[in-house]
Amino acid sequence: MSVFETIARYSVVPVISIDDAKDALALADALIDAGLPVAEITLRTEAALSAIAQIAKYRPEMCIGAGTVLDEDQLNEVQDAGAGFALSPGLDVATILAARNFGLPFAPGVMTATDIQNAVRFGCGMVKFFPATAAGGLPMLKSLAEPFRHTGLCFNPTGGITLDTMTDWLDHSLVQAVGGSWIATTQDISDGNWDTIRERANIAATVARKFAADNG
Ligand code: 3PG
Repeated sequence: MSVFETIARYSVVPVISIDDAKDALALADALIDAGLPVAEITLRTEAALSAIAQIAKYRPEMCIGAGTVLDEDQLNEVQDAGAGFALSPGLDVATILAARNFGLPFAPGVMTATDIQNAVRFGCGMVKFFPATAAGGLPMLKSLAEPFRHTGLCFNPTGGITLDTMTDWLDHSLVQAVGGSWIATTQDISDGNWDTIRERANIAATVARKFAADNG
């Protein structure tokens, strides 16, 4: 199973901004215990690379990826750290080509038809629709995605998605997974609120599983 197929199976990806790498394994354990062993750790903090490396090394059952990957150097770094996939908030052709070169599954961020056209042109199979809610929400995605349906491109919306809205997004046939920071907030990670994170992850995973079961 490819990494994006694995992500599609979970349907919901915790987006993480972690301040201290010492919290990485406890975070991973909370997500694993909750039945949601997947996360995008964003490169927005000093701790991110080390957190990815620890989880990749000591919790191999986690599907661990890197977010906010802005260029080829960072792509190289996250691959060295053991990330199994990477995403970026916008679309940068050089980074897409580097990811293809490295063999690292990569989803660039898209918000316009031009972005999506470039993603298709440069061989992406998955894109991150970002910032999903602020960019026009589901009506915008529906309009944007339709002209590209025949290409087989799939979407991972993130930005402003919550437990209450996640299934609205998952109901779109080209959406394979949603991402969101509500499951494990930076504050809850710093405070060591593992029970809270475990519970939110468990609820999100349960909602995603039920949605999949009810919708074939
Ligand atoms: C991100 O990459 O920042 C994600 O889109 C998370 O957005 P959220 O905080 O609105 O869930």
